[in-house]
Amino acid sequence: MTGKKLLIKHAAELITCAGAAPKKGAAMADIGIISDGALVAEAGKIVWVGPTDDLPPDSEEQCEVIDATGQCVMPGFVDSHTHMVFGGYRPEEFFWRLAGTPYLEILERGGGILNTVQATRSASLAELKDLAARRLENMLAMGVTTVEGKSGYGLDLDTELRQLAVMDELNREQPVEIVPTFLGAHAVPPDYKGRTDDYVDYMIKEVLPAVVRQGVAEFCDVFCEQGVFSLAQSRRLLAAAKNMGLQAKLHADEIVSLGGAELAAELNACSADHLLQASDAGIAALSQVRTVATVLPMTAFCLRESYARARVMIDQGAAVALATDYNPGSCFSHSMPLVAALAAIQLNMKPAEIVTALTINGAAAVNRADRIGSLEIGKQADVVILGYPSHLYLVYHAGMNIVDKVIKHGRLIWNKSGRKQHGKEQ
Ligand code: NIG
Ligand code: FE
Repeated sequence: MTGKKLLIKHAAELITCAGAAPKKGAAMADIGIISDGALVAEAGKIVWVGPTDDLPPDSEEQCEVIDATGQCVMPGFVDSHTHMVFGGYRPEEFFWRLAGTPYLEILERGGGILNTVQATRSASLAELKDLAARRLENMLAMGVTTVEGKSGYGLDLDTELRQLAVMDELNREQPVEIVPTFLGAHAVPPDYKGRTDDYVDYMIKEVLPAVVRQGVAEFCDVFCEQGVFSLAQSRRLLAAAKNMGLQAKLHADEIVSLGGAELAAELNACSADHLLQASDAGIAALSQVRTVATVLPMTAFCLRESYARARVMIDQGAAVALATDYNPGSCFSHSMPLVAALAAIQLNMKPAEIVTALTINGAAAVNRADRIGSLEIGKQADVVILGYPSHLYLVYHAGMNIVDKVIKHGRLIWNKSGRKQHGKEQ
């Protein structure tokens, strides 16, 4: 898979993001920039990082060499929150919302997530897989080397397992690593309407054990929200999942301030996501624990809601990650450039904090900070090369994809500037 050695040299900026744990608070601004940097990868791993001048003399022997003069080299992006396996689309809803119908009201009427559930239930594994594969290619072109993906558009045993099977198969067939999350508690399906506790029982007794038996999920997530799953129901499901070996994630305080952030901290969840309405106490609780606060600014943008208070979270010492929330409803976009722009312009995050949030903290949000998310000896050689000399361009070239090359496991798998001249490299 990995072939010969790879050497990248003369990077205007090589950003290491060094660390093996979530970076909290002020540490998020520390991204370890090496100017005129170089990196050597062998057998899929990083074996050397430093200034180009310090490269050992025989470094170029038997190496594929990339000259990154005028370019910024950084860890591959980790999109740690997506719902990328689904059937159907919901374009009308976007405009209903803009015209004033609330997101939760559309769901309550049997639309929203439940609309996608119908379309996903009637799609075959091959259809879902084909759609997801194309989405992954587009993500890769934006520098995403690892992506988390959730089930949650089945809400029954067969379809939940089918969504997870899609990710399992794609993990073996294409280069972007997929981290699978079981989100059976994404909405209450029509046959359980008014019987949410019974639905949680069904998840705990039948669906979760099957998911765990098949080994197709690492995390269990819940849409903990007013009128969807309460704090008590979320706590019960996540505790059961933990007993079965799955780590916790939470859709927390997205629409209503319910105490989801506090619950995530109480459970020591791997991440608490959304947090648009997280309370002061919730933010304070997150800053005391290892739980990553995953902020999804494109969702607030698309829902025309106020943004999560990422600046307060960082200033209080929390670890913030940024992700897309790509899904067919609240945020039909996997644009990393838009995430970066919104993070700077609307969340008041500094460029260096944004880099941390998209790399090492994204890795921590999927429990992989020991393997990916930074450019350090021993880590997986997942690297992005930008078409510009500094990370500042991620925000400054607003909404534009400036990724030039993507390297996964030490192998060049996307090459924009090489496309015309070296089409075969793709
Ligand atoms: O993260 N809010 C819950 N889940 C998704 C939206 C899913 C959908 O609308 O299809 C979210 O926003
Ligand atoms: Fe989500």
